[in-house]
Amino acid sequence: MFGFMGFGEDIGIDLGTATVLVYIKGQGIVIREPSVVAIDKDTNTILAVGEEARRMLGRTPGNIVAIRPLREGVISNYEITEKMLKYFIEKAIGKRSFVKPTIAVCVPSSVTEVERRAVEDATKQAGARQVHIIEEPIAAAIGAGIDISRACGSMVVDIGGGTTDIAVISLGGTVVSTSLKIAGDNFDENIIRYMRKKHNVLIGERTAEDLKIHVGTAYERTTPVSLEVRGRNLITGLPKNITVTSEEMHEALKESVLAICDAVHTVLEKTPPELAADISDRGIVMTGGGSLLYGLDKLIKSRTGINAIIAEDSVSCVAIGTGKYIEFLGEGRGKGKFDIFGKPHNNKSSDFVATKEDEE
Ligand SMILES: Nc1ncnc2c1ncn2[C@@H]1O[C@H](COP(=O)(O)OP(=O)(O)OP(=O)(O)O)[C@@H](O)[C@H]1O
Ligand SMILES: [Mg+2]
Repeated sequence: MFGFMGFGEDIGIDLGTATVLVYIKGQGIVIREPSVVAIDKDTNTILAVGEEARRMLGRTPGNIVAIRPLREGVISNYEITEKMLKYFIEKAIGKRSFVKPTIAVCVPSSVTEVERRAVEDATKQAGARQVHIIEEPIAAAIGAGIDISRACGSMVVDIGGGTTDIAVISLGGTVVSTSLKIAGDNFDENIIRYMRKKHNVLIGERTAEDLKIHVGTAYERTTPVSLEVRGRNLITGLPKNITVTSEEMHEALKESVLAICDAVHTVLEKTPPELAADISDRGIVMTGGGSLLYGLDKLIKSRTGINAIIAEDSVSCVAIGTGKYIEFLGEGRGKGKFDIFGKPHNNKSSDFVATKEDEE
C-alpha cells in the first residue's frame, strides 16, 4: 500500500491535534494515526510515532514520555511536530519516489504565522516539491462535498480534538469564522473532572474517551445507556469499578456543548442576511470526530432552529478536502478558477447524507 509513487502525485495531510490523516490522490486515505510521539527523555530520541506511541500514553516508565505535540490546536512542540510530520510523509510515499509530490497541509486554524511557516518548512524537508497550507474550514467544506465555488452560503462546524472551527463560506472564501478551544479533548477533561468530583474516582484519558464515545450525551437520550469503567478510588487509593450513565455524561458535558452552540449562534448573528438564509435552507454541516458526540447535532438544531447534518465520514472530511484542493489547483490551472467545483465530488451534491443514525 505504501511505497511506490508515480509521477506528480498529490498528497493532502490533515495535521490534526488528535489524528493525522494522509490522503493520496487516486488512493484515498492511506494513513490514519494518532498525533502522538514517544520520546526517550534520557537520550532525547524518538521511540515511536502514531499508533505505537499512543499505546504508550499513560503507561510509560520514567524515562519515556508520550507527547501529543499539537495539543489544543497549537504546535506546543515544534521540533517533535516536524519529526512526526516527516515520519508520516515518508511512511505514506516511501523514500524512493522519483518525483517529489505536491503536498497540501491543513493546520489547526489557530496557529500563528511562525508555526505555519514551521509546518511549511518541515513538509518541504520531508520531501515535498511544493507545499500549500490550507485553511481548515475550507478543506472541511470541500471534503464534506460542498460546492464552495457557488455564491451560496454554507456553514461548516468542524469539531476536532483541540479546536472547534465554525465558518461561513461563500464563493470559495471564508466570510465569517471563529475558532474555540472547546472540542473533543475538552469533553474528555470534563468527564475526568466530573468523575473526580461526583465519585471520587480518578480515570485516565483513554477511559474518559471511551465514556464519551459510548455513553457521552449532548442531548437527552430517549433510551439511557450506561458503561462500566475502572478508575482509582481517591480515598482508598485502590482500583474501583463504576457504572456511568448517559444522564451523568449529559451533566458532565453540558457546559462545553452549550458553549459550542453559543459560538454557532454568534457566527450566525454576524452572517450577512442572504447567506444566513442559504444556511437556513441547506442546514449546518458538521465535520470532525467531535461532531459524532451523541446528540450534538440535535442540540445545535434545537438551539438555532436550523437543521444540523453530520457529514459522511466526518473524521476524514478535512484530509479528503485537503487532497482535493490540490486536484483543484492542478486541474483549475488555465481554466476558470473554480471549474473543478462545478461538478459534485464523490457523487454527492450539496444535499448531504447524514451518516450517523439515530440510536433509538
Ligand atoms: N464517536 C465519537 N463520539 C464522540 N467523540 C468522538 C467520536 N469519535 C471520535 N471522537 C473524538 O473526536 C476527536 C478527534 O477528532 P478529529 O480527528 O476530527 O480531530 P483532529 O482533526 O485531530 O483535531 P483538530 O481538528 O482539533 O486539530 C477526539 O477527541 C475523539 O475522542
Ligand atoms: Mg481536524
